Amino acid sequence: MSDTSESYWWQRDDLKYQAGKLNFAGHDVDGLAKMHGTPSFFYSAERLTANVQRLHAALQKAGLKNRYRILFAMKANRFPPLLTLLKLTGLVGIDACSPNEVEQAISCGFRPQDISFTNTSLSRNDYERLHQFEGISMNCDSLTCIRKWGAMGGGGNIGLRINPSIGLGRADNAKLQYAGEETTKFGIYREQFIEAIELAKSYGLKVTKIHFHTGCGYLTPQLDHWENIIQTCMWFVDQVADTVQVVNVGGGLGVPHVANDSPLDLDKWASVLVSNFKHRNISIEIEPGDYLVKDSGILLLKVNTVEVKRDKTFVGVDAGFNIALEPAVYGLPFQPVPGVERDGEKVTVTIAGHINEALDIFYRDVELSPLEDEDVLVLINAGAYSTSMASNHCMRGEFKEFLLY
Ligand SMILES: Cc1ncc(COP(=O)(O)O)c(C=O)c1O
Repeated sequence: MSDTSESYWWQRDDLKYQAGKLNFAGHDVDGLAKMHGTPSFFYSAERLTANVQRLHAALQKAGLKNRYRILFAMKANRFPPLLTLLKLTGLVGIDACSPNEVEQAISCGFRPQDISFTNTSLSRNDYERLHQFEGISMNCDSLTCIRKWGAMGGGGNIGLRINPSIGLGRADNAKLQYAGEETTKFGIYREQFIEAIELAKSYGLKVTKIHFHTGCGYLTPQLDHWENIIQTCMWFVDQVADTVQVVNVGGGLGVPHVANDSPLDLDKWASVLVSNFKHRNISIEIEPGDYLVKDSGILLLKVNTVEVKRDKTFVGVDAGFNIALEPAVYGLPFQPVPGVERDGEKVTVTIAGHINEALDIFYRDVELSPLEDEDVLVLINAGAYSTSMASNHCMRGEFKEFLLY
């Protein structure tokens, strides 16, 4: 075991080696694995709260004062203790995308008026259930949605999710874009927007919010593009100038996944918002998922196979891509980190899961300190879109979740 640990790109005060053992949120991960087993997700309450506070601080510093609201996109992680913690901070509301998510948020203490709802392809049953949540903020993303929500009666305020035909995502990853050259299912395009406003009026619905979410995982190099998107969306805002009170700019704020990524420059990000909205009497909503929870969560796995096949050393672990999908599905790497940093030369290995699918690879050709059978291996940045997207493919997919204080 090494006692002079080198420094790693992912290292933070609450995630680092101490005397060769990985420590997360004040806990030795090897000890956590022994106590609770693997695969297990651990979330740090402190990191989660710090992420929320950092975002607030940037918005305050930029001068938005009380003209904004942060909504946690719970599709990223709906673990009830985590939602309850967020509720208790009093610093966030919720972005929900299904009636079940709304109910889960309410069961963790959020009120309907703390919740903004946005999704596509809703059924009659969905509309009926959503209509019961008095005070919920509804964003219609199609003419059909306006029609069906309007037909429920009662008029009221709605938001319109729009599609500006340009999007952004981490390092131009097309899989993370919700708007762009290709026509997507998300939001109302410019060509139909005037019709959408007229339709809303015909049902006595007042358009008080413009909503857009154009992609995920953006970092500082994408901020110029993000400003273009905001400016493009102003055309939509101007069409409802008489009634609009809020602009929801979606989520999408990213966190570093690899050594070459730098953390998002939050001050620059917030100044883009302020410069575009300061002369307008409009409040801002932001609905991040990733930015709040991703780096507050790690996944603990156990090594069960170390074997050289031809030119590659495979390290097999006791979970598969179906409980942590981002590397396989979105090409978003989760840095593997051995629970114990062994002495000896680094070895280049490929981390493979236990599912019978070719895409079940967590990381290819990563240089790590030597791993042995039964070692604990940690995947960092596993706090978002892992458990919430998990399946039981191959009748595997069990995991445990813990919130660490
Ligand atoms: C409408 C909407 N808002 C917010 C988010 C959260 O995105 P992220 O986790 O990238 O911040 C998503 C995610 O896809 C979304 O679809």
